[in-house]
Amino acid sequence: MEKLEKAKEILKKYNQEHLLNGYEKLEESKKEELLDQILSIDFDLILSLYEKTKKPVDLGEGKVEPIEHTDKDKLTSEEMKNYYAKGAEIIKNGKYAVVTMAGGQGTRLGYTAPKGTFPIIENVSLFEGLSNTIKEAQEEFNAIIPWYLMTSRENNEATVKFFEEHNYFGLKKENVTFFKQGELPMISTEGKILLDETGIVKQAADGHGGVFESMSKNGVIDDMKKRGIQWMFISGVDNVLAKTVDAVLTGLAIDKKVLAAGKSVVKSNPKERVGVFCKKNNRPYVIEYTEISDEMAEMLDENNELLYGESHILCNLFNIKAIEELSKNKLPYHSAFKKAKYIDENGELVVPTSPNAYKFEAFIFDAFERLDDMVILRVKREEEFAPLKNADGVDSPNTAKELYLNYLKNKNK
Ligand code: UTP
Repeated sequence: MEKLEKAKEILKKYNQEHLLNGYEKLEESKKEELLDQILSIDFDLILSLYEKTKKPVDLGEGKVEPIEHTDKDKLTSEEMKNYYAKGAEIIKNGKYAVVTMAGGQGTRLGYTAPKGTFPIIENVSLFEGLSNTIKEAQEEFNAIIPWYLMTSRENNEATVKFFEEHNYFGLKKENVTFFKQGELPMISTEGKILLDETGIVKQAADGHGGVFESMSKNGVIDDMKKRGIQWMFISGVDNVLAKTVDAVLTGLAIDKKVLAAGKSVVKSNPKERVGVFCKKNNRPYVIEYTEISDEMAEMLDENNELLYGESHILCNLFNIKAIEELSKNKLPYHSAFKKAKYIDENGELVVPTSPNAYKFEAFIFDAFERLDDMVILRVKREEEFAPLKNADGVDSPNTAKELYLNYLKNKNK
């Protein structure tokens, strides 16, 4: 009862009293869940995010410049050996981990199960492809490489079940850890928090930028420290070619004395819808395709290459010191206007045919400008980047499958 009174008080203050309209009709467990949600929501944050949706996107002030990069293909054999040796030393000594962000909803792909379970080629799921990379590296370096997977409330159970059914793809269960990412309520265009079909607050995953905070809250950073992890590779679940265990990248970061490194591939044309690495106010930054002017996107350097041509592919390496710092403060949230089913104030289910609600997400690359510096390693697209985003056309099952089959063919040559 005390909880209910408290919840009512909060909702009155924030003008969200509709959330309890259907309370009496809920089952006991749902009642409890709803009250716990209300008591844990940061209403001030939601209010400020709602206010932000009414203003034009603030791109922030700052001087944007190109960023230096190292082209892996142009390294001398001496440099390659040196970086590899430095990175291998870390991996061999069990100081390296892999983090895979698998909490996304995969709406564009339109696949209802967790995206990682998608069969990228016959009988091989994204999860299996990614686990093969880790298994092979464990053999190459004769070391344990712990794997941490970020899931969401929605897909955690199905993800864990999939790993169990597949016997953890031959990895040791104790070295595979799942942790759930954070969530934020979805709101209507009037700033009202929505209820889902079951009568509780409709929450959505808070974006891949929530990874640092979730790692801290779920004890992942502590676990890594216990295991002596110093470096970790963080990437998405939807790129089966992600070279998640990368001695050269690690060695490069160590050699250049930075706490983070990102991989890039050359932007295929000035209009490609990808973010590119650059420097903003002298700090690393990713400028999104929606933010870059046509003029900037087309600028060329002395070698006739795009000046802003290092595409961010969500394949980044961090030192644990950087992770600890980044986990202390939230990253900014961006709003996305989405279609969301909800229960209206009269208890009726509304199934929209066009976007009707805001969802809030943080992006991992917003963390970069909080770092003093990072190195960028340009790698080959066909070797390390096979994004699976859409149901058809670009970055779809067909394109990703072809890239993966080619990779496997070349690897086994
Ligand atoms: P995307 O931004 O491409 O999103 O995620 P998505 O969920 O896969 O697909 P759409 O946009 O709904 O169609 C890039 C990577 O970041 C992870 C995804 O699982 C994917 O591996 N991600 C994204 C999370 O882990 N959590 C999130 O909240 C968002």
